[in-house]
Amino acid sequence: MILSNFIANQTVHEKYGGVVPELASRAHMQNIVPVVDVALKEAGVELQDVDAIAFTQAPGLIGSLLVGGQFAKSLSMALNKPLIAVHHMQAHVLANLIDEPRPSFPFLCLTVSGGHTQIVLCEAPNKMKVIGETIDDAAGEAFDKSAKLLGLPYPGGPLIDKYAKEGNATRFRFPEPQIPGLDFSFSGLKTSILYFLQNAGTSLVYKEEFRATDEERKTFIENNLADICASVQHRIVTILLNKLKKAASETGIKDICLAGGVSANSGLRSAFEEAGKKHKWNTYVPAFQYCTDNAGMIAITGYYKFLDGDFSDLSVQSTARAEW
Ligand SMILES: Nc1ncnc2c1ncn2[C@@H]1O[C@H](COP(=O)(O)OP(=O)(O)O)[C@@H](O)[C@H]1O
Ligand SMILES: [Mg+2]
Repeated sequence: MILSNFIANQTVHEKYGGVVPELASRAHMQNIVPVVDVALKEAGVELQDVDAIAFTQAPGLIGSLLVGGQFAKSLSMALNKPLIAVHHMQAHVLANLIDEPRPSFPFLCLTVSGGHTQIVLCEAPNKMKVIGETIDDAAGEAFDKSAKLLGLPYPGGPLIDKYAKEGNATRFRFPEPQIPGLDFSFSGLKTSILYFLQNAGTSLVYKEEFRATDEERKTFIENNLADICASVQHRIVTILLNKLKKAASETGIKDICLAGGVSANSGLRSAFEEAGKKHKWNTYVPAFQYCTDNAGMIAITGYYKFLDGDFSDLSVQSTARAEW
C-alpha cells in the first residue's frame, strides 16, 4: 500500500520550452529534504521505521539522478538500512501492480513517456524485457514537439489532448511510418507536421510554391487547431496501438497494461480499451498519479527487489542511460 506519493513539480522550466538540466538538479537539491519530510508526515511514519531506501538509479538527467542517489546513500548509511537501486523504466511498468485489479504474469506493458516508448514483456516483477522501442523520438516527445510547432506551451501533450476532444481526427492524414518488427518511429511524423504547417495545410510534402507566410500559417493553425490536434493525436495513437496489437498477437499474451505520462492521453486510453474489447485483452492503466513520474512506482519496485533481497552497496553509480 502506498502511504504517500508526494511530488514537487518544477515550474522553472516552462519559460524555456523544455527541461533545463542544470536548473532541474538545482531545484532537486532544494526540494529533496522538504519532500522527504512531507512524505514521512503524510505516511505517519518515522524515518527510523522504514525497512529500506529505494531510489532511481537510471536512466534520466544525470544531475538530478546524482542528487537523489547521493541522498539515498546517505540515508541508507546513516540509518543502517538496505539501499535499493531502481531502474526508472522498470518502475513505470510496475506502477500497474500498485492497485487492484492487477495484471497476471506474463503481461505486456506499453510504456509511453516524454523520454521513452517501449513494449515490455514482464514475466515477473524482476524479470522483464523490452521487445520493442522507439528508434528516434518518444511518444511524449512527438506530442510535445507537435504542440511546439503549433505554438502551444511546454509540455504540450495535455493541450493536444484537450483540443483534440473537439476535433475531427480523420481530417488531416499524417503518414504512418513503416518500421519493421515491434519498434516505433516518430521523427517522420514531426517532419510531416512541420511541412504541413509551413504549407498552411496544403501539402504534407514540402514544396517551395506552397510555402505560406507566417501570418497565413498562424491563421491556418488558429482556424483548424482542434482538427490538427485530433489528427496528430490519432496518428500517434494508431502508431502505438498497431505495434501493441502486433506484440499481443505474436506473444499470445492477453494481460496488457499502459504506463508512463502519455497514458494519461484520453485518445490513447479509449483506443486501448476499444482494442482490448475487440481482442479480448484484460486491460490495465495505473491511476493517473502513478502514470506520470512519481515516487509510488519507485517504492513498489523497491518492495519487489526487497522481497528478492536485491540490494545495492554504496558503490552503485547513477547513470544517464542504462540497459535493463
Ligand atoms: N494527456 C496527455 N496527452 C498526451 N501527452 C501527455 C498527456 N499528459 C502527459 N503527457 C506527456 O507525458 C510526458 C511526461 O511523461 P512522464 O512519464 O511524466 O515524464 P518523463 O518522460 O520525464 O519520464 C510529456 O511528454 C507530456 O507531454
Ligand atoms: Mg518517466
